[in-house]
Amino acid sequence: MSLSRVENPCFLLFLAVFQAIFILILYRGGASSVFRGFLDAPQPWDYSKTQDVYTNLSLFTRAPNEETMPYCTAQSPIFVGPLTITFNTFPSERMIIKKNPFVRFGGCYSPPHCLARYKSAIIVPHKNQEKHLRHLLYYLHPFLQRQQLHYGIYLIHQAGNATFNRAKLLNVGIREAMKDEDWDCLLLHDVDLIPENDYNLYVCDEYYPKHIASAIDKFQYSLPYWSFFGGVSALTPEHYMKINGFPNTYWGSRGEDDDIAARIQLAGMKIVRTSIHLGRYKMVDLEQHKGSEEYSIRPAPLHNTKKTWKDDGMNSVEFKLLSRKKHLLYTNITVDIGNAPTLPPEGKNKEKRA
Ligand SMILES: *[C@@H]1O[C@H](CO)[C@@H](O)[C@H](O)[C@H]1NC(C)=O
Ligand SMILES: *[C@@H]1O[C@H](CO)[C@@H](O)[C@H](O)[C@H]1NC(C)=O
Ligand SMILES: *[C@@H]1O[C@H](CO)[C@@H](O)[C@H](O)[C@H]1NC(C)=O
Repeated sequence: MSLSRVENPCFLLFLAVFQAIFILILYRGGASSVFRGFLDAPQPWDYSKTQDVYTNLSLFTRAPNEETMPYCTAQSPIFVGPLTITFNTFPSERMIIKKNPFVRFGGCYSPPHCLARYKSAIIVPHKNQEKHLRHLLYYLHPFLQRQQLHYGIYLIHQAGNATFNRAKLLNVGIREAMKDEDWDCLLLHDVDLIPENDYNLYVCDEYYPKHIASAIDKFQYSLPYWSFFGGVSALTPEHYMKINGFPNTYWGSRGEDDDIAARIQLAGMKIVRTSIHLGRYKMVDLEQHKGSEEYSIRPAPLHNTKKTWKDDGMNSVEFKLLSRKKHLLYTNITVDIGNAPTLPPEGKNKEKRA
């Protein structure tokens, strides 16, 4: 290259303009699809070096003037990557509230320093797992704040003695959450899973439902089976409408995951997955953990999703809303979702019937 060309002011100007356009495209995220492959490539995360989930969160302070508040940066300035997760100490409610001063009544938050780019609702099906919940709240609140999200945490509490029905509770939760706000993204979140990396974004994929908990410690940080869609996943309200929500008819078993995965396919979509380097989770392991509600074994498919999905879902969910209370750290939606249909006497149940 000749020297004169480099020194030519016109050429330099051209270079500068070209760079500016390129940076602008990157900044606006317009080229994200082009770079997606690159960004999802295995990251050299070192999970032996972790940081506290509250690190530098106090740098987010209230903007002096809310009217002129800028949009949040595309990438959070306080990301640290791998997070320290332990269940040795049981955090008190008071301590969690104190450490999260910007969380509002009902477990809602919007960044005090910038305008959030996304609104995510976290829907947590729940039944008698108060201890798991406490650990989840301790970690999830700061985790979501690190990502500069506007968010709300909804606990969908199943009242009564019936068997747990995760998918039906999710249907109820989404319905109730959408009454509050026009959420961009619905995160379906098990109460006992804690994310290990703050780069694991709780935002939806524009086109397809996203499975997020792709690497859980309990499954040796790999998928328990190929079509696994449980744990933590993210759908937009549009995705949810397209699949007619979730099945209401899975009581106790873990087969609802497979049903949801089948619905996604039947509705002409596919599942995208957070990479296993990023979608890492620790399962809250408590001694009183009940073995019956774990999903170590894939249940046999009992339902014919192809036949049932259009009639069994958000268009057929029936429940009784018992209470809707705003707790300091979450909204508690307590529902009676009915009972599992009783087995016929010749059903293969253990106890003898009179
Ligand atoms: C916390 O923020 C300070 C100031 O921006 C920075 O120097 C420091 O590296 C951050 N700490 C971590 C662990 O990222
Ligand atoms: C739930 O079970 C308990 C103890 O077995 C019983 O006392 C209670 O009445 C039951 N509640 C309902 C709503 O069936
Ligand atoms: C949610 O509300 C119900 C009904 O008031 C209550 O029984 C339950 O203990 C609450 N659960 C939590 C975790 O706040």
